[in-house]
Amino acid sequence: MGFKVDNRIRRAIERDRKFMITTTKEDFPLVVQKASGDYIYDVSGNRFIDFSTFISVYNFGDNSRAEVRTAIKKQMDLLMHNAFTDYYSEGPVNFAENLLKMFPSGFGKVFFSNSGTEANEAALKFARIFTKRPYVLAFYGAFHGRTYGSLSMTASKTVQREGAGPFGPVVHAPYAYCYRCPFKLEYPSCGMACVDYIKKYPLAKEIPPGETAAIFVEAVQGEGGYVVPPKEFIKGLREIADDNGMLLVDDEVQAGYMRTGKFLAMDNFGVKADIYTFAKSIGAGLPLGVTVTRSSLGDMKQGAHANTFGGNATVVAGADALLAYVKKNMHRIESGIHERSRIVMKRLNAMMDRYEIVGDVRGIGLMIGIEIVKDKKSKTPGITERDAIIKRAFELGLVLLPAGECSIRIIPQLEIDKKVLENGLDILEESIKAVSPNAHT
Ligand SMILES: Cc1ncc(COP(=O)(O)O)c(C=O)c1O
Repeated sequence: MGFKVDNRIRRAIERDRKFMITTTKEDFPLVVQKASGDYIYDVSGNRFIDFSTFISVYNFGDNSRAEVRTAIKKQMDLLMHNAFTDYYSEGPVNFAENLLKMFPSGFGKVFFSNSGTEANEAALKFARIFTKRPYVLAFYGAFHGRTYGSLSMTASKTVQREGAGPFGPVVHAPYAYCYRCPFKLEYPSCGMACVDYIKKYPLAKEIPPGETAAIFVEAVQGEGGYVVPPKEFIKGLREIADDNGMLLVDDEVQAGYMRTGKFLAMDNFGVKADIYTFAKSIGAGLPLGVTVTRSSLGDMKQGAHANTFGGNATVVAGADALLAYVKKNMHRIESGIHERSRIVMKRLNAMMDRYEIVGDVRGIGLMIGIEIVKDKKSKTPGITERDAIIKRAFELGLVLLPAGECSIRIIPQLEIDKKVLENGLDILEESIKAVSPNAHT
């Protein structure tokens, strides 16, 4: 495919830079116009295979499914905004009830908002109110959002916090990022030093356990670099929380909603949290944040927390239609994810064998990351190489997104056509090869 930056693309980018105060746009000139299923189309008619799902939003196909769009259109003709905080309405409660069936027993309370950061703000506020404790433990590499409570827990890149402090009472600990273990140990002989560290340092020297409301964690770290921790890490956090009367809050905003092959990413670790947060794909393309709490935690006082648009009629109509599809086809969806995951992992592992700059391949289900390095021995982050791979892939017709310092995320829609998946992986390999100094193929 001969991608060229034409005048329309150039103008769109110039105007974006002129009028938008800040964005996180990457260094490739994608000016989107429409999208469908496995593909994104730009304003100049170029077609791209999508391995980004519009930042992990369209888990079931770009621009969502036809029945989701039909439900949204139908609801829009009836009533778009329903003031769910102040007026009763049936749709959001139906959706809440349907959603709760996807959770372990004992989860019976839902709060709706408009984004991941708001879902986490609510979780943070609820955790503090439920426990009557002020502090929170979160992790380096975590991304929980960009409003103040969530940003206080986010420790992904300093640019996200620079000049914006002071932040809330949150202490960070190292995540179980085994490829770059902060303790320079190796799993499993490490004996989970990262779990011990939490007990020996933050909770012994900085935040009294009896004053710590919650541990906030992503079961699989997303923006931090698609990092899959050992099961013992998540289990260890559960134990620390239980031993000290803290809540475990699981941010499923990126890893949840079937991305890892299970509805809850945390289920891959055999652990249950006390509060779960969702956004991105749960809204089926429209803005929806969801905070789900264990019923035994109780209720908030009336008026303790609210917003204008949470439980919006149009949004939940789409979300409920997508959830119905997922439930109806669960078995096929699950096995399809595992099959596609095996295809991707096999190809990526072969690339890791073949190319010196592919340092690590890791993932669960279709939440897969590859870490690019200068060379396997030094593991020096291959930041320019990673960026060059993404750029080259784009020119060849594949949209990829970075994660962490030097990783690339592979997050196609969960039912991507297997031929399209292979084509995308071919483009990825061609791009890695083009950027590799020592390709020995
Ligand atoms: C794990 C996680 N939590 C929270 C957020 C914030 O979500 P939002 O951008 O909808 O506020 C993100 C966004 O990337 C995320 O990946």
